[in-house]
Amino acid sequence: MNFNEELQTKTEEMRSTLQAFLPTEEGLQKTVIEAMNYSTLAGGKRLRPMLMAETFAMFGGKSEIIKPFMAAIEMIHNYSLVHDDLPAMDNDEYRRGMKTTHVVYGEGMAVLAGDGLLNFAFETACKAFETAETLEDYQKVAKALTILGKKAGIYGMIGGQCVDIEAEEKQELVTEEVLLFIHEHKTAALIQCAMMIGAILAGAKEEQIEQIEKCAYNIGVAFQIQDDILDVTSSLEVLGKPVGSDEKNNKITYVTLHGLEESKEQVEALSNEAIQILSSFTERNLFLEKLVEQLIYREK
Ligand code: IPE
Ligand code: IPE
Ligand code: MG
Ligand code: MG
Ligand code: MG
Repeated sequence: MNFNEELQTKTEEMRSTLQAFLPTEEGLQKTVIEAMNYSTLAGGKRLRPMLMAETFAMFGGKSEIIKPFMAAIEMIHNYSLVHDDLPAMDNDEYRRGMKTTHVVYGEGMAVLAGDGLLNFAFETACKAFETAETLEDYQKVAKALTILGKKAGIYGMIGGQCVDIEAEEKQELVTEEVLLFIHEHKTAALIQCAMMIGAILAGAKEEQIEQIEKCAYNIGVAFQIQDDILDVTSSLEVLGKPVGSDEKNNKITYVTLHGLEESKEQVEALSNEAIQILSSFTERNLFLEKLVEQLIYREK
């Protein structure tokens, strides 16, 4: 199997793992569950669960303990997108080639679907306790849950989104440092979360987890710079979401600060640093290294 075939197979596996954990559309609250599943099951690269599973495999993880967390991280990612697209935030009408959740279900239901996904993510991740066999397993799950809370919250994704919103009105205050804060928190945090949980659940050592956090920082910041590049260079048809969203919302991005060429170079440099860290571990995961390399050239 070549890389692209392997990637496609794995992406489908991510989708079925996620689907297995999604809630059944029933009960009087059926509508919010439908909205949750609508936003989650639409296509998507499933990058975060994939990075989690690949990091887990790299450190020798083999059990089922990882699966609830793979579903959980994708639920949290999807909640962040549902809220990010709301009129009160980026006000975008397309996501993954489909109408955004608030366009289909209304704003109130989209807010609730996001909230629902966030809570259900933790309910799902807690299912990992059911697969725990030893005290060590319980401790790993507890540690993974703490990371999930932290990296998704005010010290992670929400923190980044906060500064991202405020920056729209205070463009002159967006220095390189502030922009990196935004990128690190709104995007790299969930990628760090994914890879760190993979490492933790596989039983990696503390210093290895720290290396993974650094590696995922590079991947995450590169990923957001590439997202900002595609917002300028791509099209709705290819990207599945509107281009020009950043300009419409007066966002300062890496591209507005440094231009396209330097931005592309930065994506490459950060990704290469990440690959270097990955290749320094005794047990390597060549698929994971190739995945990070391919993200440099991603078109969606
Ligand atoms: C989009 O994430 C939001 C960012 C953090 C840039 P992805 O590009 O991973 O979105 P999907 O899940 O593949 O649709
Ligand atoms: C979003 O950044 C990061 C999130 C936490 C959702 P963007 O606003 O650039 O993401 P897209 O371009 O809408 O996917
Ligand atoms: Mg946004
Ligand atoms: Mg957006
Ligand atoms: Mg964007």
